[in-house]
Amino acid sequence: MVVDIVIGRDPEDLEKFGNRGCLYIGKHIVGEGEDAHYTNRILMDVLRPHIVLVLGKRGSGKSYTGGVIAEEMLLLPEEIRKNLTCILIDTMGIFWSMKYPNERDFSLLARWDMKPKGLDVKVFVPIGLASSYEREGISFDATLALKPSELTPSDWALTFGFTLQEPLGILLERVLKRLKERGTYGIDDIIDEIERDTRATEKEKLALENRFISAKEWGIFSERATPVEKLLEPGVASVIDVSLQDWNVRNLMLGILARKIYQIRMFSRRREEISIIEGGEKGKIPMVWFIIDEAHEFLPNKGKTAASDALLTLVRQGRQPGISCVFITQRPNKLHEDAISQADLIISHRLTAQSDVNALSQIMQTYLLEDIRKSISQLPRSKGTALILDDNSERLYKIQIRPRFSWHAGGSPLLVKE
Ligand SMILES: Nc1ncnc2c1ncn2[C@@H]1O[C@H](COP(=O)(O)OP(=O)(O)OP(=O)(O)O)[C@@H](O)[C@H]1O
Ligand SMILES: [Mg+2]
Repeated sequence: MVVDIVIGRDPEDLEKFGNRGCLYIGKHIVGEGEDAHYTNRILMDVLRPHIVLVLGKRGSGKSYTGGVIAEEMLLLPEEIRKNLTCILIDTMGIFWSMKYPNERDFSLLARWDMKPKGLDVKVFVPIGLASSYEREGISFDATLALKPSELTPSDWALTFGFTLQEPLGILLERVLKRLKERGTYGIDDIIDEIERDTRATEKEKLALENRFISAKEWGIFSERATPVEKLLEPGVASVIDVSLQDWNVRNLMLGILARKIYQIRMFSRRREEISIIEGGEKGKIPMVWFIIDEAHEFLPNKGKTAASDALLTLVRQGRQPGISCVFITQRPNKLHEDAISQADLIISHRLTAQSDVNALSQIMQTYLLEDIRKSISQLPRSKGTALILDDNSERLYKIQIRPRFSWHAGGSPLLVKE
């Protein structure tokens, strides 16, 4: 009997649950060069929260692997799937295609005993950009909106690119404080309130008003915010397409969503605990898996974005409320060091730069740099091969990530027709 390799699961859980509640992400590669061949299936634990890093140079298969993880969540048995939800932050506009079967790789899939299959993902686009998507004939399932009054002074300041200590920041904080006393408000209310301010100079007032006028163009605001529960449907993968927005607005959106989801999971966790004590039914908000492409842009090592604080909270405190993160990045050196040090699973596709390989060994200090270097150099050159570092079992595995059932729209363009 061939035994599956389960990564991300400690021996106690392995004993208790066997290979239940796992994602089939690929096969173990044994041997090197000509002798390299696939052996056991490699499964990834989702019964417990994890921080996963997916690394590798351009075109090495990172986004594809993110898609495999999402696909597998949707294929879990119903009793497990209904306790999970997956949110893909799509910076390149590539994950909508998961709805369609991967006919292109029919024969590759056949070699893995799999068939093309479209999956039920829910694509969200920012409310103000919905008409642009429609015009371009890009389909989506729902819109996403924030309410201006949900933003803190610091959210605005980080997105506008100034600090709360500068004159504009001081004016901003004063104006929002006055508005907050009145409850909910929109951007026009903020602009009116800036005009009414008597302490700032005309120049400062104009500068801040202009910032808010431009904020109307971000396409994310509405009088009614999308209830966060809409993104947390059990057993569903929600794709949040932020590909048409500037980075500061993407950061703002993710920051606010992550904050709201953390809060709602904290409450839910408490309810679950109470219902367990009372022997009743469990809470209804599923455990959350965030899959974040280009993660170093949202949570950089240097500087702070409007997503930084919320993501750091997930990284440092997300285990308790059951929130997992998959951070996908080309540049592990540029990702915040806490995201790196808290990661318990690393899927590293090909890395060529020596500094990136060195960074890898710094992340997982249990491994010898020499072992990592050797294993990476032994990886077959085919697409989707990777080295897995599993902190739970303190082991290294070479893996071929399995082909996708669903269409991957992230391939590089070709100058001539195939
Ligand atoms: N496991 C795999 N099996 C088969 N083909 C794969 C696999 N992984 C990647 N590929 C192929 O490699 C291409 C590039 O992969 P992908 O889009 O994931 O790169 P990436 O690492 O995200 O690159 P970038 O950093 O530019 O975003 C895919 O379009 C696909 O054709
Ligand atoms: Mg990519």
